[in-house]
Amino acid sequence: MDEFIAQLPKAELHLHIEGTLEPELAFELAEKNQVTLPFKSVDDMRAAYNFSDLQSFLDLYYASISVVQTEEDFHDLTLAYLKKAAAQNVRHTEIFFDPQSHTARDIPFGTVINGITAALQEAQTELGVSSKLILSFLRHLSEESALETFQQALPFREQFIGVGLDSSEQGHPPSKFVNVFDEARREGFRVVCHAGEEGPPEYITEALDLLHAERIDHGVRCMEDAALVARLAEEQIPLTVCPLSNVRLRVFKTMSEHTLKRMLDAGLLVTVNSDDPPYFGGYVNENYEAIQKAFDLSRDDLVKLARNSFTASFLSDEEKQKLIGELPES
Ligand code: HPA
Ligand code: ZN
Repeated sequence: MDEFIAQLPKAELHLHIEGTLEPELAFELAEKNQVTLPFKSVDDMRAAYNFSDLQSFLDLYYASISVVQTEEDFHDLTLAYLKKAAAQNVRHTEIFFDPQSHTARDIPFGTVINGITAALQEAQTELGVSSKLILSFLRHLSEESALETFQQALPFREQFIGVGLDSSEQGHPPSKFVNVFDEARREGFRVVCHAGEEGPPEYITEALDLLHAERIDHGVRCMEDAALVARLAEEQIPLTVCPLSNVRLRVFKTMSEHTLKRMLDAGLLVTVNSDDPPYFGGYVNENYEAIQKAFDLSRDDLVKLARNSFTASFLSDEEKQKLIGELPES
């Protein structure tokens, strides 16, 4: 089955570029940029990836990104992920970036997005992986900060297709960001939102009704609300589920307690993604492998998940059909 998963063409729709920093590259950049990491070695850093909840991960995620500083660094970080993705038969990716975690360190918005964009273009021509970029606002900061960030982003509007919302979920509901999402939609951007990871099902409803999210990132806590599940199934709202992330951040104690299979059985448009791969112990194929083993998924189930990943993407209908046409009969 692992071989079947490896050769399956797929899209990855929930991936934070900051969360792809491997400890080896972190140490290389720390030395180059004269930054001291709070770890003695690569092994030490990897050993620290033992989280009690979302916040304990975010603390390390924001601290580690301090080593990434120049346009070249953002390029190298992005290209390293895209090489991994290409090797796993990822044909298309939709990547989040968190500009506020860089502009807060006095790194210009253009340095970040130009470095990332250069790598995306290289991957398209040299690796055959297509990509889109999604600007994600940090929900623990104010809406004013998000509005300011969106203004900084507008001169680069050709380089990203949508906006999202990430970081500490509890206590920072989607309703806090209605104005900035209204503005983004008015400017023609696509809208996604992290909701129902640690936060309650009500945040998923807010993301849909107040922010007009077209896709929900995580969304696993929808299973606590039968009416919401019925709505998500009826409207075929895609959910970008990240199984290894959910177990590592203790949303579920073990993979066998994950709701993914029940979500599929409820007719939800579920996709499988890696979120922040080195932190959670695997890229997209390792996520497919983990759920395949936990739920004894069939080839049909796996093909369905891969098909969902293309269906749920922001590719054109024509591009979706072309990629779906490359899937095996199963
Ligand atoms: N949730 C919230 N914020 C994040 C995540 C996530 O899964 N990954 C990176 N920032
Ligand atoms: Zn995420």
